[in-house]
Amino acid sequence: MVKLETIISLAKHRGFVFQSSEIYGGLNGCWDFGPLGVELLKNIKESWWKAMTYRQDVEGVDASILMHPRTWEASGHVTQFSDPMIDNKQSKGRYRADNLIEEYIDRLRKKKKTDQADALEAKLEAASEPIDYYNIIVENQIPDPVSGSTDWTEVRNFNLMFKTFIGPVDDSASTIYLRPESAQGIFVNFKNIMDSSRMKPPFGIAQIGKAFRNEINTKNFLFRTREFEQMEMQYFIKPGSDPEWFEYWKEQRWNWYIKNGIPAESLRFKDHEKLAHYANRATDIEFMFPFGWGEIEGIHSRTDFDLKAHQEFSGKKLEYVDTVTKDRYVPYVIETSGGTTRGLMAFLCNAYTEEKLTDDNGKEDTRIVMKFVPKFSPIKAAVFPLVNKDGMPEFAEKLFNKIQTEFKAQYDTSGAIGRRYRRQDEIGTPFCVTVDGDSVQNGTVTIRERDTMQQERIPAENAVAYIHNKLMNA
Ligand code: GAP
Repeated sequence: MVKLETIISLAKHRGFVFQSSEIYGGLNGCWDFGPLGVELLKNIKESWWKAMTYRQDVEGVDASILMHPRTWEASGHVTQFSDPMIDNKQSKGRYRADNLIEEYIDRLRKKKKTDQADALEAKLEAASEPIDYYNIIVENQIPDPVSGSTDWTEVRNFNLMFKTFIGPVDDSASTIYLRPESAQGIFVNFKNIMDSSRMKPPFGIAQIGKAFRNEINTKNFLFRTREFEQMEMQYFIKPGSDPEWFEYWKEQRWNWYIKNGIPAESLRFKDHEKLAHYANRATDIEFMFPFGWGEIEGIHSRTDFDLKAHQEFSGKKLEYVDTVTKDRYVPYVIETSGGTTRGLMAFLCNAYTEEKLTDDNGKEDTRIVMKFVPKFSPIKAAVFPLVNKDGMPEFAEKLFNKIQTEFKAQYDTSGAIGRRYRRQDEIGTPFCVTVDGDSVQNGTVTIRERDTMQQERIPAENAVAYIHNKLMNA
């Protein structure tokens, strides 16, 4: 299993992901996507958008990040969207109390203290109030993982929503929040979309967009950040049909990850034991990250909680009325909620491959290949003139310009051809096109495929169609 540091380092030096505001020392929990990162992010989103909205029963929306503050009262976020926080009086370290206990349990397991770990895990499962977490920490003398101190403050609930002010006056009357999930932008538009698109349940609304959470502890690169992106879909259904639709969407979402190159053994479903205030059934799709299993997407059966709450808070009817049968109801909702940026991290970890190679002289070497599915690869093709003379650069540049009109491509003239291949392998480019002496003579080029390293000679004029076909059939 690749180390997380290896992924972070590759992501930085090849231009996938940088620390936010790095020249100022970085901003905790925020990351920037570099030239290759934006392409990868775009490709992931495009695949999700096509899978989720290029069907008759799902429409898209792009709601604003800032929403009426009543939204968050209705959704329960103002009162309930908080994590238990604890401070160590000596070290001044600040922790999420449940995470502190979880990490302690992990340490017990590593020391083979299974009974103690199991007992603590059961207590953690049952905990819900700040005092429950506090008692576990104090009774078990759980130390600060950095300083070892057990001098703790009480546990307080910390609301994760970022607050800001709308307009020029910063008083409590103008307080608004950066959305902590994109889902509410869908709920408040339910009626608009149902009416304008003449939809009737079962139907869905999908959205991709940024969300913000003032997480107490950020960790593991893109896994838990303060600014991130989500890809969410709310599927509005007749009450009572939720068990079948829940199963349907579980399968759809699982298959999307499989289709995009994540093997089944790196994925699992983890049903929620403790349900959120809005859910009657919930499961997570988890991915095996370098640090262990972690959620990448949640599938939640949210009943009519959100629409009913918005109905109550806004005073507007949010129901479906069947004009023929006169049947009327507030739909139930199945939600699929994936992290785009957390998903990107899973795709990066999954793609990373080290291969041992032996050259013709028996010399051993290691090649690093990012084995993205080709449609996710940031760069689809690279074009190399074998040498910088004899008409090759002119031929190659012309071909590159042609390829570039269709695909994100790179042109590379520097270093031995083997080194150029390796540079492209390391960023996951599926096709490398080399222009050699024969190309100038007879108009053919070689195309080398990333995973097999096999080369094929084809007419240069067919290169665009060749790449197209391969991408379509990959
Ligand atoms: N609308 C439901 C909802 O937001 P969630 O389980 O809190 O559910 C859904 O979040 C997904 O959003 C997660 O599976 C994860 O991929 C992503 N996500 C949540 N918090 C995140 C964070 N702090 N950093 C990165 N991604 C996050």
